[in-house]
Amino acid sequence: MQISLQHQVALVTGASSGLGAGAAEALAEAGAAVVVNYNRHAEPAEALAERIRENGGKALALQADVSQEDQVEALFARTVETFGALDILLANSGLQKDAATVDMTLADWNQVLQVNLTGQFLCARAALRQFIKQGPRPWVSRAQGKIIHMSSVHQLIPWAGHANYAASKGAIDLLMRSIAQEVGGQGIRVNAIAPGAIKTAINQDTTQGEKGQRLLELIPQGRLGEVQDIANAVVWLASDASDYIHGTTLFIDGGMSLYPGFKDNG
Ligand code: BGC
Repeated sequence: MQISLQHQVALVTGASSGLGAGAAEALAEAGAAVVVNYNRHAEPAEALAERIRENGGKALALQADVSQEDQVEALFARTVETFGALDILLANSGLQKDAATVDMTLADWNQVLQVNLTGQFLCARAALRQFIKQGPRPWVSRAQGKIIHMSSVHQLIPWAGHANYAASKGAIDLLMRSIAQEVGGQGIRVNAIAPGAIKTAINQDTTQGEKGQRLLELIPQGRLGEVQDIANAVVWLASDASDYIHGTTLFIDGGMSLYPGFKDNG
């Protein structure tokens, strides 16, 4: 199976680091022109776009806070102005503001929901509007556009001390499936990826040392995920190789969502 995203345009939100950066690079390697969106960290986003261009690809780093409607609108407008169309959205921006619920501030609740959930709604809406406006592009893809939502195993697994984050990811599941039901007839594909413990900055406190050892007990495969594990799946899910996959969440978690604590009879 040869995967090519030649002549396609991809927008990746939250692409200055972690899963977003890895996915942006992989999409570019597969031939897509890539918008590397960032909010606060211009330098690594610009460096990534530059690296893609040096390797012969097309890339542009663009700033936008995905929780702000006007900034999302401007981000999509610039993307289309620059590359002429949009074929793939990876709605990836997300953050954690961890606290026990009794101590959680309303500000931390709101911020996580605004970025992780409202941001995904605003970006999906902007992508849908663009896909519908530009119409089918059968010479680049069977689908009229593809949206991939970045979810988490915590759309399924409750997570004490992270109620805001788990609530945002649980909601992404129904956001994604509702949109998929709505636009499937228009040839637009909508799916999600639910990563487990992938080694990135977001979880560096829990993936190292003794905590890291305990974390491994929650992963049947016995290893942490790598950014590439997710990036490979993003490219496949964005390509025609997965054309009949619609409204699905792909768990990429080494088995974390299998409730491994029950392995020895609970
Ligand atoms: C979180 C990580 C965590 C992983 C597994 C992810 O969604 O962002 O911090 O390690 O889930 O618990």
